Amino acid sequence: MDIAFFGTKPYDKLWFEPLSKEYSCHIHFIEAKMNSDTVVLAEGSNAVCIFVNDYVTAEVAQRLSSMGIKLILLRCAGFNNVDLSATKELGITVLRVPSYSPAAVAEFSMAAILAVNRQLHRAYNRSRDFNMSINGLMGRDMNCKTAGVIGTGKIGQCMIDIFNGFHMKVLAYDVYPNENLDAVYVPLDELFEKSDFISLHCPLTKDTYHIINGNSIARMRPGVIISNTSRGSLIDSNALLDGLKEGKIGGVALDVYEEEEGIFYEDVSGKIIQDDVLSRLSTFPNVLITSHMGFFTREAMQAIAIETLENAFAYENGMKLINIVQ
Ligand code: NAI
Repeated sequence: MDIAFFGTKPYDKLWFEPLSKEYSCHIHFIEAKMNSDTVVLAEGSNAVCIFVNDYVTAEVAQRLSSMGIKLILLRCAGFNNVDLSATKELGITVLRVPSYSPAAVAEFSMAAILAVNRQLHRAYNRSRDFNMSINGLMGRDMNCKTAGVIGTGKIGQCMIDIFNGFHMKVLAYDVYPNENLDAVYVPLDELFEKSDFISLHCPLTKDTYHIINGNSIARMRPGVIISNTSRGSLIDSNALLDGLKEGKIGGVALDVYEEEEGIFYEDVSGKIIQDDVLSRLSTFPNVLITSHMGFFTREAMQAIAIETLENAFAYENGMKLINIVQ
């Protein structure tokens, strides 16, 4: 099988190339992201492989289909970047990697919450300059505080365990509660009202779009710290800006951002950033922005590479497709 890999970086090659022989496939690594201008690069391949900021719109799906490409391999868990009604209509199979290392993302969310709460990013910069003053760097104990976890799937469950390890009271919200977890399920508004720290772990759907908005922020505790390692559009960025400017929000860790495409994963340090909201967000001392890297551990990369190529192998050999997205 010839697979056109879109949006690839050196680390993709590092993990996928050694495995390609084992799975009898040839990988064509393409740096460009998948979109209507670049889809032409898939010509001659049997399948395409994409990541979180590669978009398969109805037009892209149509173009893939007309090239005879009937398989899209997502080397990630989320699939909000694929127009599934279009792929379904065109008979294109979409396979994903539903779970690779939930712990990687939950651990990252906690690392970011700790950094924001204890202002490690600021302390690091100060001490590099031998400014050893700790004025303005005071944080809060997490022990005995209340954490809110929205979305209690694979990553949310790890997050609950981590918060419990910090001896926190853990509140949870999910449309499908799992009563076996060491957390108390509450209505969403109650979670907003009672949580000192909120970590988002639900997928982006039409129901979760801007789940953090002006109304939810108004309900939150003053000084709340919010972490989003899920998808950018779970948060209304303008409402977040207002909450930060008012001093209502104590800190934010953003591993994802609603307009991240074209900026995240790229070195745009020499360019003029046109996104005024992102630019403003990056000016707050209590906002930590990272580039959608919650997943980025050796263990996760290895698991992603194996599962993606297992998916391709299963499709090629008419085996049962366990990771199909419908
Ligand atoms: P999962 O599918 O195991 O869990 C998602 C949970 O969200 C489920 O329990 C589901 O019932 C719940 N949910 C669905 N709709 C909801 C709603 N309206 N309100 C509340 N809960 C709702 O997914 P997993 O593996 O835990 O991943 C969660 C998200 O993390 C993914 O959708 C993806 O967007 C993001 N992610 C981010 C990564 C990063 O590098 N920053 C890496 C991997 C995933």
